[in-house]
Amino acid sequence: MTNKIAERVSRVLFSAEQIRIRAHAIGEQIAVDYADGAAKDLQRRPPLLVCVLHGALVFMADLAREIPTEVEYDFISVSSYGNGTSPGAVRLVKDLERPIEGRDVLIVEDIVDTGYTIDYLRRGFAARRPASIRICSLIDKVARRETEVQVDYVGFPLEENAFIVGYGMDYQELYRNLPFIGVLKPEYIK
Ligand code: IMP
Repeated sequence: MTNKIAERVSRVLFSAEQIRIRAHAIGEQIAVDYADGAAKDLQRRPPLLVCVLHGALVFMADLAREIPTEVEYDFISVSSYGNGTSPGAVRLVKDLERPIEGRDVLIVEDIVDTGYTIDYLRRGFAARRPASIRICSLIDKVARRETEVQVDYVGFPLEENAFIVGYGMDYQELYRNLPFIGVLKPEYIK
């Protein structure tokens, strides 16, 4: 069966193969960067990957399998109010299940856009006294940033101001299951 939703994309920005190659490289880098803590201090537990639902689900699943060392998972869900009256306001929908005190936390995001979401998460996590917090984002919309956030691991920087879907990212909750990242044809945007 042909992919019915893939036909709604006008332009592929990052193919499944390009994403796989980047996820592999980042996974290896994460393993190297976190190896010291895990190997030298047996009291220290492996890094905790925090998946920001729902957008980062697909990336998290692939990235985690590219990290050739121990990791643990947790999940958090936030939503932006997005009503225009309070730009940057973020609401917690689902919190982590376990404490992060003393842990090396790696937040896994789909996109850092204005940066308000990741800033909210980083501040909230910092108050729980983890050993460290790093940020990994598949896409970094560098030109759109409105906050001071540093992304430690970037899949792809995106300079152009495009609204993208696929590989976990949605338009009105659809297209998350596309295996690549692309731009919708205008007739599919209401
Ligand atoms: P920020 O708070 O402005 O950085 O927005 C981050 C969130 O907005 C991401 O985690 C996505 O869920 C969503 N987002 C931003 N740009 C796009 C896009 O081009 N496509 C789909 N979702 C997006």
